[in-house]
Amino acid sequence: MKTYDVVIIGAGAAGLMCALTAGYRGLRVRVVDHASKAGKKILMSGGGRCNFTNLATTPAHFFSRNPHFSISALKRYTPHHFVELVERHGVEYVEKAPGQLFCAQSAKEIVSLLLTECEWAGVEVSLSTTVGRVERLGEGMQLEIDGRGVAAGAVVVATGGLSVPTLGASGFGYDLARQFGLAVTETRAALVPFTVTSQWKASLASLSGLSCPVVASCGDGAYREPLLFTHRGLSGPAMLQASSHWLPGMPVAIDWLPSTPVAETLADLRRRVPRRRLGSWLGELLPKRLSQALIEWQGWQDRPLAELSNADIDAVASGLGAWQFKPAGTEGWRTAEVTMGGVDTAAVSSKTFAVDALPQLYFIGEVLDVTGQLGGFNFQWAWSSGVACGQAI
Ligand code: FDA
Repeated sequence: MKTYDVVIIGAGAAGLMCALTAGYRGLRVRVVDHASKAGKKILMSGGGRCNFTNLATTPAHFFSRNPHFSISALKRYTPHHFVELVERHGVEYVEKAPGQLFCAQSAKEIVSLLLTECEWAGVEVSLSTTVGRVERLGEGMQLEIDGRGVAAGAVVVATGGLSVPTLGASGFGYDLARQFGLAVTETRAALVPFTVTSQWKASLASLSGLSCPVVASCGDGAYREPLLFTHRGLSGPAMLQASSHWLPGMPVAIDWLPSTPVAETLADLRRRVPRRRLGSWLGELLPKRLSQALIEWQGWQDRPLAELSNADIDAVASGLGAWQFKPAGTEGWRTAEVTMGGVDTAAVSSKTFAVDALPQLYFIGEVLDVTGQLGGFNFQWAWSSGVACGQAI
């Protein structure tokens, strides 16, 4: 039977980072993945340019049943550490939005950086490989890999979440967690576009492709980001962020003019330019098609401002400031960027990522109940948890 110090299941962001860290410590490391390519999600991320970190990362950017769980790893391996690695490999990057770093050329460079480091660290990477049973074997572990028994001092589960099954996602990590007695918190698709009822779909059809900056609020989350109309519903960073707070039946509120004090502005214009029409004012602040649609949806008439009563102005202000809609659902796992929920961190060490009751078994990355907001936080979690675990095994 072949023996390794560590077998890592999942050659994604967290698994490769953990592998190279452990490999440089002189451990015999094998990474196995059922997919034909390593880091498929990295390749697809950020529109093919991978938003690989966010310089502003703090534990507050993550959702988890235990909000303190991410503190230790994020503190020990920061965005600056990853940037240093990226720079060492000569990968050019750009800061597209404050703190959000993307590859200037291609996400392929991040995968190639990780695989190069793995090679230098002596890591064996096995792709298109099936992992069967995983069991405890005395102080170590035993796995069935492509039908053969393999012994390992430790097993690291880095199988990620459930989003985008075509990129290799599976529930294998959750099944393993349950097999070893760990709880798995409820999982749901997050950072995902909203779908709308067929009636709304017809109304939104003419707006498809339009984008505008809004503040979207859902539950206890509020995000100032662009919203994008699609032929399926509502998307763009504002909606993706709101989706992380959304449960079926909940409304999502949109402030279409977050930078404009609507009531004051309209009252002032009514006095100064009474013949100006509501539609012409709104059409200067929002894309024309959207301003017309909002006037129609709200049943406002495109009247001269002089005809608006104070109550009308208040109605317009609240209609633009807190427009509410109830999503029919989300696009689900097919397009979600991440999984909310996962392996309950209660039984996992936040320092080493080992299972408290079985210290030769580790869980890292997105398979855990730690989910980042949009903007490079999820990859930073993969790097930080991967390094912390790779140093501890
Ligand atoms: P990841 O999913 O990367 O890796 C898990 C690996 O395990 C995969 O290679 C999979 O094949 C393998 N695996 C699963 N089941 C297995 C089994 N049974 N046997 C063997 N192997 C198995 N984040 C971010 O910070 N910035 C961004 O720009 C984006 N963009 C983005 C776009 C899209 C389209 C998606 C779907 C996601 C993102 N993300 C993102 C999220 C980010 O990709 C995600 O959080 C990390 O990849 C998680 O890293 P992990 O290593 O935990 O899982």
